Amino acid sequence: MTELTTPIIIVNFKVYSEVEGPGAVRLAKECESVALEKKANIAVCPPMVELSRVASEVTIPVLSQHVDDRSPGSITGYVSPQSVKAAGAMGTLINHAEHRMPPQEIAAAIEACRKLGLVSVVCTDTAETSAAMAVFSPDFIAVEPPELIGGDISVTTADPAIVSRTVEMVKAVDAQVKVLCGAGVKNGRDVRAALDLGASGVLLASGVVKAKDVKAALLDLVSAL
Ligand code: G3P
Repeated sequence: MTELTTPIIIVNFKVYSEVEGPGAVRLAKECESVALEKKANIAVCPPMVELSRVASEVTIPVLSQHVDDRSPGSITGYVSPQSVKAAGAMGTLINHAEHRMPPQEIAAAIEACRKLGLVSVVCTDTAETSAAMAVFSPDFIAVEPPELIGGDISVTTADPAIVSRTVEMVKAVDAQVKVLCGAGVKNGRDVRAALDLGASGVLLASGVVKAKDVKAALLDLVSAL
């Protein structure tokens, strides 16, 4: 398995207008600069159409936002794990709340990533679904209550128990799987709370992509690592 060092902050750029075209590399470079300056683990998930460009421009880990359980070939518009690897990404999100997949496809995508040496980060919505996904032994499980995504209240404040229960239930299935949490994470206090609840880091988006001062937001977030 390719390693993603923890504790880590994974910034999902989603497909916000701020990261269209050159905006993706610009934001990735801001993440890289803070990661290097503070010796912090930050990974980025650029929009799919910018994956290769971002991966070639920064030295921090780059992850795909999605991958399909499809082999290379006549699969118009799909994303094969092989193409993610060839683009220079270190791994991929799987089953994000905004891009859900059927369980059998999640399992197959995790296995394909394992074979290719790609890091798999499976997104889930509850401690129970997290435990169910842990059976497939992805590298990471990121639990995110969908109703808190994009909001101003961090999962660590609104529902800290979902984080600690997910850690407990996932580790009971496979102690090697690392747990992240996300939804509404905005600052260093939220990151600290996530780590105190047993998570190995956070997955966040709007707190960085939509920040008025991106560098200040990143510095605050990494101050808790
Ligand atoms: O992938 C991270 C995401 O779903 C959480 O989004 O904006 O609440 O940090 P946000």
